[in-house]
Amino acid sequence: MSDKPATETTAANTAPAVAEQLVTPWDVKGAVNEDGTQAGIDYDKLIQQFGTRKIEPALIARFEKAIGRPVHPLLRRGLFFSHRELDDILTRFEQGKPFFLYTGRGPSASSMHLGHLVPFLFCKWLQDVFRCPIVIQLTDDEKFLFKQNLKLEQANQFAFENAKDIIAAGFDPELTFIFSNLNYVGGAFYHNVVRISKCITASSSKATFGFTESDNVGMWHFVSVQAAPSFSNSFPHIFGTKSDIPCLIPCAIDQDPYFRLTRDVARRLKYPKPSLLHARFLPSLLGSYTKMSSSNEQSTLLLTDTSAQIRNKINRFAFSGGKDDIESHRRLGGDTDVDVSFQYLKFFLEDDEELERIRVAYRSGAMLTGELKKLCAEEVGKVVQDFQERRKKVTDDIVRKFMDSSRKMDWTPSCAVGGP
Ligand code: TYM
Ligand code: TRP
Repeated sequence: MSDKPATETTAANTAPAVAEQLVTPWDVKGAVNEDGTQAGIDYDKLIQQFGTRKIEPALIARFEKAIGRPVHPLLRRGLFFSHRELDDILTRFEQGKPFFLYTGRGPSASSMHLGHLVPFLFCKWLQDVFRCPIVIQLTDDEKFLFKQNLKLEQANQFAFENAKDIIAAGFDPELTFIFSNLNYVGGAFYHNVVRISKCITASSSKATFGFTESDNVGMWHFVSVQAAPSFSNSFPHIFGTKSDIPCLIPCAIDQDPYFRLTRDVARRLKYPKPSLLHARFLPSLLGSYTKMSSSNEQSTLLLTDTSAQIRNKINRFAFSGGKDDIESHRRLGGDTDVDVSFQYLKFFLEDDEELERIRVAYRSGAMLTGELKKLCAEEVGKVVQDFQERRKKVTDDIVRKFMDSSRKMDWTPSCAVGGP
């Protein structure tokens, strides 16, 4: 499935590229230029190709007005850059009508990497400003179906461990339900899975995800399982039989294909369509032509790395936008658009003025690559260390509370009306 479309040159009249960029839930690659170099991900092109909307300044202004405070830096800086019908969710918030957040994680290893933290930190902030429930799906079933050598029991165990990472992002236990598909799916949730399945033909699953005849049938079907949490009546312990409460799904743009199909199905089942908010990828250490992913040690900062490991990896591997020697760097300056350390600062440094100061200094050549890497390692080191402090406090009992499906949840938005 993931090994074929990369080499197909489909759009004939775009820039001369040997291979177009490829973004799927399994694979992220920038276009390959004629000279063999790999381009960064072209996010405007993804908006066009996927048919989403760009987040314009006017929408951010409306968001800030609705919540009565500045939006999160990830939104302000365009790192969440695209959406589907975010306006509808803001309207509901303004009217004091309920909605919920939905996001997820495919537990492919016992802990997550720094890129995975991005949507979860953002969701935590959204939950704080909206005071709304969030459901978090751990797709241990997906990882078992899609990975060659992963045992079912192991994927299930990873789900439990990953829940600790997710809880450490700071979610409110009163308003958060985390579930493993392998443990939770049944009852009303499975009713929706089956309804959804009946609306999705094999050919549309194939066309959306690029499956081949030799991929297993579980893969072809899995979209129905990732779609189901978009609908409120999948969670009877939270929403009872109410099927008209819409959700907002924050995720990186690679997950959008699932929700394109989900939105088509929603219309046919007379459920509200989910709204979406799409993030850019935290780039691989090796460059912005691909996302950070667990498959390669040298490309990834793990949430279990020590500050020293983070510093070493950034120093050794982080792709630099600097010039080859100090003299020409001082004269010509560095390129902050391709520099990976600068990109990480953009994701994780809170102070806007400091970020701008660094940008100007590096661009002008006043700041050298070594200094930029040092600043990046310090900042990322802090984020990861804070994370690890919170992670340490998450016990098995706490995880079980977040995963308890017999709990009631007070999701009526009375507390949100009027804003902070
Ligand atoms: P998974 O585990 O691949 O990724 C979990 C979340 O992290 C995002 N992500 C990234 N964000 C920024 N930079 C990166 N380098 C990066 N790599 C991954 C993903 O987009 C995702 O938001 N099938 C899903 C699990 C899932 C899900 C969902 C995700 C089930 N339901 C609803 C989002 C929304 C998966 O395997 O995610
Ligand atoms: N630390 C703040 C929080 O936890 C804000 C924050 C999170 C942030 N991630 C960020 C700020 C990335 C800038 C960049 O909500």
